[in-house]
Amino acid sequence: MEMKVKSPFPVVCDAIDPSKISFKPLPDGSKIPAIGLGTFASDRYDGKTVAEAVKGAIAVGYRHIDCASIYGNEKAIGAALGVVLASGAVKREDLWITSKLWNDMHGDGDVLVSCAQTLRDLGLGYLDLYLVHWPFPNHHPKGCTVESRSPAARPYVHEKYMRVWRQMERLVEMGLVKHIGTSNVTIPKLKLILRDAKVRPACNEMELHPHFQQQALFDFVKESGIVPIGYCPVGSPKRPQRDRTPDDTCDTEDPVIVAAATRLGVHPAVVCLKWAIQRGQIPIPFSVTRANYLANLKAAISEPLTDAEMAAISKIDKGCRLVKGQVFLWKGAKGWEDLWDLDGEIPAWEGSR
Ligand SMILES: NC(=O)c1ccc[n+]([C@@H]2O[C@H](COP(=O)([O-])OP(=O)(O)OC[C@H]3O[C@@H](n4cnc5c(N)ncnc54)[C@H](OP(=O)(O)O)[C@@H]3O)[C@@H](O)[C@H]2O)c1
Repeated sequence: MEMKVKSPFPVVCDAIDPSKISFKPLPDGSKIPAIGLGTFASDRYDGKTVAEAVKGAIAVGYRHIDCASIYGNEKAIGAALGVVLASGAVKREDLWITSKLWNDMHGDGDVLVSCAQTLRDLGLGYLDLYLVHWPFPNHHPKGCTVESRSPAARPYVHEKYMRVWRQMERLVEMGLVKHIGTSNVTIPKLKLILRDAKVRPACNEMELHPHFQQQALFDFVKESGIVPIGYCPVGSPKRPQRDRTPDDTCDTEDPVIVAAATRLGVHPAVVCLKWAIQRGQIPIPFSVTRANYLANLKAAISEPLTDAEMAAISKIDKGCRLVKGQVFLWKGAKGWEDLWDLDGEIPAWEGSR
């Protein structure tokens, strides 16, 4: 059971003025802050710990929080947001709150139910952004291993995705969410979604870090007028063993990243975030450690990387996808590569319709 967050909203002397943090404008005039705080703790921290970090992060100047129902901590984060808003120090309209629809809520009628639950848990009247977390319907138990396969898992079927998207569009009409967006899609999927959407995705959340730059998808997203939000921006260095494979590389140990960090006198994580912001994506680093989340926010306002450093980082892409999505594989799928349309097409799966 989630604990209520009781400690008051602190006033801190080392806070960063949020108006100094740049933002990306959206077509309706709203502004999404150039960096946000991730809240996926895997099973390392409980909801109360993450909620305290959310409160501390807002106190030091964060205004953008990336949540999701599957992270299992929206109730605790909602209690923290309640303390922040009740203090009067921050207004709801100054915050950018994202949440996401989980894969077991893709059925007709499910999207409104899920969004309403998230709003209740977060204690909010609306979300700034609601994402379809993954384009694959499935269900798997909490804490399951990467070998686990759900009998409910299905591949991408565009007509079915659009039924989910229509429900997302309805949330915008109802005023429950300001913007909707995609996550973990590929160029072929996004092309179909853009062809058929009445309300276009405002943002696309995708894995982005120096060793996984996804240049083609990144370019396509930007050319389509969609804001890219980058997850695992530091390369998720503390992810659990079960989410690692022997071929994974480590961004924060890369000599190019380390050299820039040494020049600037910062942790290599901060260099990854500077690269992200200067490249044009919005990083959403996770941290429950005050010194780290403060350093990450400072990355957005302190000395930038040089053109030479940016050029050097553009050359260290290793195509190293960390979040492979193995648990979402359906019966008949061979491996995680099947989720990502590596041949530039959505494969036709037997029994997928
Ligand atoms: N849409 C999706 O499907 C999806 C998938 C994955 C993640 N996400 C979102 O993206 C967020 C970020 O991804 P992530 O949490 O996997 O990885 P990440 O942000 O790349 O890495 C987080 C880890 O880096 C450490 N760290 C952060 N800043 C640091 C600093 N300045 N110095 C040293 N260490 C630092 C943190 O440790 P400490 O806590 O010890 O500071 C934390 O364990 C998630 O929390 C979630 O909100 C979305």
